[in-house]
Amino acid sequence: MTVVSAPGKVYLFGEHAVVYGEPAVPCAIERRATVTVEPRADSHVRVEAQDLTLDGFAVEYADSADDRPDVDVPKPLLDAATGYVDAAVEQAREAADAPDAGFDIEVDSEIPLGAGLGSSAAVVVAGIDAATRALGEPLDRRELADRAYQAEYDVQDGQASRADTFCSTMGGAVRVEGDDCSRLATPALPFVVGFDGGAGDTGQLVAGVRSLRDRYEVAADTIESIGDIVRKGESLLTGADPGGGPSAELIGELGELMNLNHGLLSALGVSSRSLDTMVWAAREAGADGAKLTGAGGGGCIVALDATDETETSLQYTTDCEQAFRAELATEGVRLEDE
Ligand code: PMV
Repeated sequence: MTVVSAPGKVYLFGEHAVVYGEPAVPCAIERRATVTVEPRADSHVRVEAQDLTLDGFAVEYADSADDRPDVDVPKPLLDAATGYVDAAVEQAREAADAPDAGFDIEVDSEIPLGAGLGSSAAVVVAGIDAATRALGEPLDRRELADRAYQAEYDVQDGQASRADTFCSTMGGAVRVEGDDCSRLATPALPFVVGFDGGAGDTGQLVAGVRSLRDRYEVAADTIESIGDIVRKGESLLTGADPGGGPSAELIGELGELMNLNHGLLSALGVSSRSLDTMVWAAREAGADGAKLTGAGGGGCIVALDATDETETSLQYTTDCEQAFRAELATEGVRLEDE
């Protein structure tokens, strides 16, 4: 039995603009997906999945997960258990040169699904790592990140950046610009996450931004301006002492940039009433800054606040279903048990 966990992430800056070659800075957070893998004697794959809010369910298939089992669970959970796990299994079989390998797989996630926190990337990263280890062919982190990206790319029909999978593999704060990915040494930032209980349709939201960009020069300029915000934020982060706690001045400046970033995302049409309500609840509670994270349309916001005020205020905000502090996960993918 091989048990591997991988973290989810928030975008400090740069979602959507990253699709057009601007840089982005996602940060891994201490909310993990854990995947347990046991090789089987046959070539079947059996997946048992659960997250915090749902009772588990199990599916088993022989050749491919394309014939979706008829189970009554929300689509993001079914996708995590079938599409993403299947893609991870394919990558592991290829990497280990074991095309007929079968597995019993258990997925257990603390990351709200489809809400901009990188749940699918964490499942894919932990799944490939656990399955290749179980086959005796562990991968180095670069190859793991690369294969996890391929898996997401396949499932999402080419609509995936390297941000989520690289961040989940490496941990910490990372910088992604096209195919160029690197880790950033940063101090631990005081993230607070608010979740409205919903999810946006990433494909639709990305298509909406593309359409605005094609039709309005000001939308194209807005995307470039997000790139400028990311570059400014990145220089602040790399100028800070990664060992010490972040200074109040650094958090204040990063917060301002997050507010600017949210305003521009909102201009591009990817915020929502509940996301805006949570952003304002955080700001009014004294957060240094707040923005939506991920594709938008619903899902999560991320705020910076070293005090408890934002988390408490979000807990009393009607549009917020769950609020929690999210520590920066300095460790990415991690072997839990073997
Ligand atoms: O909601 P998420 O975590 O899937 O993030 C989507 C981020 C986008 O920039 C909108 C798309 C992408 O693949 O980078």
